[in-house]
Amino acid sequence: MSRLDSFISRMTAQRDILNHIEGTLGLPAEGDIFEVGLGNGRTHSHLRQLFPHRRILAFDRHMGAHKTEAPEPQDVVLGEIKETGLDYVGRNAALVHADIGQGYPEKDAITLTWLPQMVAGMLAKGSYAVSGLPLDHPELEELPRLPSVEEGRYFYYRKR
Ligand SMILES: C[S@@+](CC[C@H](N)C(=O)[O-])C[C@H]1O[C@@H](n2cnc3c(N)ncnc32)[C@H](O)[C@@H]1O
Repeated sequence: MSRLDSFISRMTAQRDILNHIEGTLGLPAEGDIFEVGLGNGRTHSHLRQLFPHRRILAFDRHMGAHKTEAPEPQDVVLGEIKETGLDYVGRNAALVHADIGQGYPEKDAITLTWLPQMVAGMLAKGSYAVSGLPLDHPELEELPRLPSVEEGRYFYYRKR
């Protein structure tokens, strides 16, 4: 698979899972959304469309979102997520989306030493995590893969 195909597959999976949560599963009535890895802000823009009444907090080490639809400064948390995210553990988020895989197994292995625990801690019971990296954690129940999502491409979970 070319890197272009791989990128398209990842983006499609991300969008389809988020749409499925909005349209079929439904978010808990309360709770913010955490966008872990704001990047260019494309997913943030999609989340805003799907969930227009939710506050969305975006995390990244720098502000790189496209200016046409960037989050407000008070909704951006800048710095290393391993550190900045600690303040958001216990905040009962309704949805955490994490797109911080780097495509290098040795680097992703380091991220996976802290990300699952942090995401599980950020969420309220019954709320959802969506991630490009697998979040292996006893409090996160993996939900069935959507038919449109390639095996191992993107993952989503409900907090037990
Ligand atoms: C793949 S991009 C996210 C793309 C995003 N979904 C979009 O729609 O543009 C990953 C982003 O996460 C940020 N990132 C990755 N690991 C991070 C970390 N440990 N701490 C802070 N930011 C991180 C990178 O700076 C990058 O902007």
